[in-house]
Amino acid sequence: MQKKILKFPKGFLWGAATSAYQIEGNNTNSDWWAWEHSPKRENQLKAQGKNPRDFYSGIACDSYNRYDEDFALAQHLNHNAHRLSVEWARIEPSEGNFSEEALEHYEKVLQSAKARGLSVFVTLQHYTLPAWFAKKGGFEKSENVANFVKYADIVSKRFAEYVDFWLTFNEPEMFSTLPYLLGMFPPQKRRPLLSRRVAINVIHAHNRAYAVLKLNGPQPVSLAYHLSDLQPFGIFGGLAAYFIDYYANKYILNRTIAKCDFIGVNYYFHHHVGLMGKRKHSHSGHDETDMHWGIHPEGLERVLLRLKKYNKPIYITENGLADAKDEKREKYIKDHLSFIHSAIEKGADVRGYLYWSLIDNFEWAEGFWPRFGLVEIDRQDLLRRKVRFSATKYAEICKNNSMEY
Ligand code: BGC
Repeated sequence: MQKKILKFPKGFLWGAATSAYQIEGNNTNSDWWAWEHSPKRENQLKAQGKNPRDFYSGIACDSYNRYDEDFALAQHLNHNAHRLSVEWARIEPSEGNFSEEALEHYEKVLQSAKARGLSVFVTLQHYTLPAWFAKKGGFEKSENVANFVKYADIVSKRFAEYVDFWLTFNEPEMFSTLPYLLGMFPPQKRRPLLSRRVAINVIHAHNRAYAVLKLNGPQPVSLAYHLSDLQPFGIFGGLAAYFIDYYANKYILNRTIAKCDFIGVNYYFHHHVGLMGKRKHSHSGHDETDMHWGIHPEGLERVLLRLKKYNKPIYITENGLADAKDEKREKYIKDHLSFIHSAIEKGADVRGYLYWSLIDNFEWAEGFWPRFGLVEIDRQDLLRRKVRFSATKYAEICKNNSMEY
């Protein structure tokens, strides 16, 4: 087929995303740190024949110290935007004590990002919690929501001049499910009702924090929703897909959308859904990532078109793949961008794309082996940053605000 030039809207934001815990290193006051080093987690790993040491986040990418080097790379790759998170556990290491040192540190981080010409999306909570907050029940308890609102207030007052977009929570759908329903993340509970309660408390926390953030600055506010594409198959597949779509995609979205100035979309998955519920990420025949996640760029267009009815700007706050050999990344990015472009032509107001992730990082319960980065982190060579070929191809798109496809 003849290639075309796909142009993106003027002012489109191009960049990548990261999260504090996954790149900074030594987030010792966080619930995740406590979990990684707990006998429960270590024994589970040993029972699977794994070495717990391979699953410590440790120094991660040392971005706590090397943030300016990371932003310089983003700038070098023609990014004009970046998404990062600040670590609540650093900023409030014990209840009610806000660390001046941590606030000053993040001020420097944000100044560095701005000096590199990046529009900045700041996430307030990306999966991790301060250990003290988790200990008092975290978002399992409605009375704890006030702690988050206070933290949001302090942070948004302090950083207002450097932030372009606020994201209160990263993927509340996953945050309420992976730890509390599937038992994969701390505190490893498998309690459906508790998982719903956490979702409801996070909804309240977002809605209350929204009011505070709007008082403290003019920045648009949203959440980074985890939205997947569900395609029914077989008889009753439609019914199953309807229910899964309601709980997985719409439950939180519908209860927070009134308090969102834009919609942040994290897109990774397409699921085929039959009578027995979710079947698999993909139909056979589709390519897979190193983590065996099916690659379905066309699903992103469907997700975006479903969001049109909300009449809000949309930013892709995450989309990416684990691909250590960098064989599939360029095509993955281009294919997803082509479907974003098509959605824009059909009226979806998409204004930016942030690839996950700028650098290889700590992939939660999986450890460091999945390689999502545009930039490789060489863990054998002092965490040296090495730009991958796909990153240079993405850089061309960022520069031209268009791509040949
Ligand atoms: C999360 C990231 C994670 C990525 C890949 C997203 O759902 O926000 O923290 O690394 O998926 O699994």
